[in-house]
Amino acid sequence: MKHHLAPLFDGHDDVQAEIDRRPADPADHVATTRRVLDAHHPERLTLTVSAVVPETPTAVTLRLRRPDGADLPPFLAGQYVAVYADGTSRPYAISSSPAHPDHWDLTVRRVPGGRISNHLADTVRAGDAVTTTGPLGTFHHHPLFHGDDVVFLAGGSGVAPAMSMIRDIVDHGIDRRFHLLYGSRSADDILFRDELDGLAAEHPNIRVDHVVTAPGTGWAGPTGLLTAGLVHTLAGPLDGRMVYVCGPQALYPYALAQLTELGHPARRVRFEANGAPADPAAQPHWPADAAPDEEVTVTARGRTFRTRRDRPLLDALEDQGIRPEAACRSGECSLCRVRVVKGAVHTAQEGRLRLSDERFGYTHSCVAYPVTDVELDV
Ligand code: FES
Repeated sequence: MKHHLAPLFDGHDDVQAEIDRRPADPADHVATTRRVLDAHHPERLTLTVSAVVPETPTAVTLRLRRPDGADLPPFLAGQYVAVYADGTSRPYAISSSPAHPDHWDLTVRRVPGGRISNHLADTVRAGDAVTTTGPLGTFHHHPLFHGDDVVFLAGGSGVAPAMSMIRDIVDHGIDRRFHLLYGSRSADDILFRDELDGLAAEHPNIRVDHVVTAPGTGWAGPTGLLTAGLVHTLAGPLDGRMVYVCGPQALYPYALAQLTELGHPARRVRFEANGAPADPAAQPHWPADAAPDEEVTVTARGRTFRTRRDRPLLDALEDQGIRPEAACRSGECSLCRVRVVKGAVHTAQEGRLRLSDERFGYTHSCVAYPVTDVELDV
C-alpha cells in the first residue's frame, strides 16, 4: 500500500514499482527486530537475586542473574538500571564488570528514612525475584572524547560506577589511567576497600585515594572534604583530564566549585545525578512568593489531589497510584515526561529538557515541582 506521503518524493513511482516487482517476503521482520531490541534494550527484566553480599554496616550488594542463567543485556561500565519495588522505582549503578555478563551487581546503601533502599536492604533475600529496566544512562567512558587518563571523584555509594569502570579496565586490559578519589564518612563506610586497594597495588594505571571526613583512631590517610587543594595534592594538575563526579546531591555543586577553583573547564566534568534536588526552592527561578512547604492542587488522569510544592510531581503521582514510566529520577532520561496543561511548575536545573519540551509545555516530572495548582497530561 502506498504511503500517503510517498508522492512528495521524486521517483517514488519507480521505487514503488520495484517493491511491487519483488516476491512477497514471508519473514516477520517486525518480530525479529523486536526480539533483537528486547535482547539488548529490554524495558523490563524479572531477575533472580543469587546472593546478598554485606559490604559495610549500611550497604549490601544484590547480585542479579536471569532465572535461566543466560547472559544479561550488555552494558557500559557506569550505566545503571532502575529497580521496581513498593509501587515506585530507584536507579542503581551496576557495580560489577561488563566482562561478566552472567550477572549484575547493584550496591545499595541505606538512605536514612529511604523507602526503597531500606526495603531492598531489609527484605530482599537470595532467591527472590526483582524487576528492573535494562541498562540505561550516559555516565560512561567515551574513548573519543574522554581520553585515556581520567579522574573520578566519588562520594559514598557514588563509588559503584567507578568500581564497574575499574573492573572493566582490569578485566579487559584497557590501556587507560584511572585515578579514584573516594570520599567517605568513616573508614567503616568505605565500599569495596580491599578490592580497590588490591587492584591499585597490582595495576600501575589504577590509583585509589580514600578520604574520610570522620577519621577514627588509626586512620593515617587524608581527611576532610574533596577540596580543591586536596584534589590538587592527590591528583596533581588536572590538565584537562576528564573528571567524573558521582555521589550524594550535595557533591555536585561542591565538586564543580572546587574544580572551577582549580581552573578546570566545566566541559571536562561529567556528573551522574542521584535523585531530585534536596532543596529545589533554593534554586534560581523558584518563584519568591511560592512557599515550598505549602500545598497546591494537582489534577491528572481524572484525579485531583493535594501535594506540597517541594515534592517532585513524579513522587506525588506515584502516591496516587499514577505511575508514569521512570528510570533515572534525576531529570536525565526523559521517560517521566508529562505535559503541563494548566498552571506552572518549577523544573529543577537538573532537568534536561529539549527545546521542544519547553515550547510545548512538557517537563520531566521527577524534577518538576508544582508552584501553582496544576493540571497534567500524564
Ligand atoms: S525519570 Fe528520568 S527524567 Fe525523570
